[in-house]
Amino acid sequence: MPRIGVIGATGAVGSVVLELLAQRGFDDVRAFASSRSAGAKLGELTVEEATAEALAAGELDLCLFSIGTQASQDLVPHAVRGGAICIDKSAAFRLADGVPLVVPEVNGDRALEHNGIVANPNCSTIPLVLALKPLHDAAGLRAVRVATYQSVSGAGAARLQELLEEAPADHDLVWDWDYDGEDFEDESKLRAETRKILELPELPVSVTCVRVPIPVGHSEAVWIETQWHPDRRARSSPRAAPRLRSEPSRVGANARARPLIHIVSPGRGLPVEAASEVSALSGRFSDAPVDRRGSTSPRLLHRRVAQTRSTLPDPTGRPARPCARTFTTYERDGRLCPIP
Ligand SMILES: NC(=O)c1ccc[n+]([C@@H]2O[C@H](COP(=O)([O-])OP(=O)(O)OC[C@H]3O[C@@H](n4cnc5c(N)ncnc54)[C@H](OP(=O)(O)O)[C@@H]3O)[C@@H](O)[C@H]2O)c1
Repeated sequence: MPRIGVIGATGAVGSVVLELLAQRGFDDVRAFASSRSAGAKLGELTVEEATAEALAAGELDLCLFSIGTQASQDLVPHAVRGGAICIDKSAAFRLADGVPLVVPEVNGDRALEHNGIVANPNCSTIPLVLALKPLHDAAGLRAVRVATYQSVSGAGAARLQELLEEAPADHDLVWDWDYDGEDFEDESKLRAETRKILELPELPVSVTCVRVPIPVGHSEAVWIETQWHPDRRARSSPRAAPRLRSEPSRVGANARARPLIHIVSPGRGLPVEAASEVSALSGRFSDAPVDRRGSTSPRLLHRRVAQTRSTLPDPTGRPARPCARTFTTYERDGRLCPIP
């Protein structure tokens, strides 16, 4: 049995990791967190402070880190120095050259190329690539557009507790990521990580991330353009669904024999159903009609940012000049209408 350290054991991720390790029969496990939680009890485990010395002592074979980007940057190298293989859930190493970014069912073999660190992607990237990989294998991805509905669990244990104590009337959508003037941080992560994992560095991926006021379970609406139809014999939508079935998880003694993408009936696959699942649930498929500009759109409503040229008055009095203006349209009954 490997000697395992769970670093960030008191957090939203770490507490689930401890649960999963126990379910899978790993019993040589130590719990680490910051000095704030040192000495606290987690079941039978006593939380230890994650210091550089403790992690470098050579007493751990595997370290599972979920402590945030800066703390991982500080502490992971010490655990590597101590001889442990480190799996890090933060953004610290995900895009670093030479560090494999791994979803086991998608690119598990890459994990073997590690130099002590294996990075684990953002929580929205994982279900996305689980769905995209088999479709890419079957039909060749050409472009992906994704809108996320991310639960509050993804913002950490403290924020989740706030939501649970908040009056329902105060619930709202939130963009709680850094904004670089173009993308929120999770949007750039989703794009870059998807490209790295699928090894498609040029894949067009446009992303809109939103945090919704539900406790657990991220959802995504995904528009996928492929090189050819996933089922050349069929033109109707539900036939694409079986292509999404990915390999059953083979990780751990109690691994489930069901596919990682579990297809449920339309209208099902709610976040609450996914909360206790290892599988990603997929509830609805439809072929998107191609509009007259050659891009695909969902059946009823498609928001699209279009560029048009209009003439605006020049404040300096020089002759009016054409300039690009952006407006948003939606598509209804085959017509593009401006959003009021
Ligand atoms: N939540 C998710 O669904 C999710 C999904 C994917 C990735 N992640 C990533 O996983 C990481 C942790 O997320 P989380 O949601 O679990 O956060 P969280 O609930 O806030 O928990 C943070 C954990 O890290 C510990 N910690 C913080 N600073 C530390 C330090 N300097 N040294 C040692 N331990 C330290 C905390 O210990 P104390 O209790 O002592 O403060 C706590 O155990 C983040 O990088 C996050 O982006 C989270």
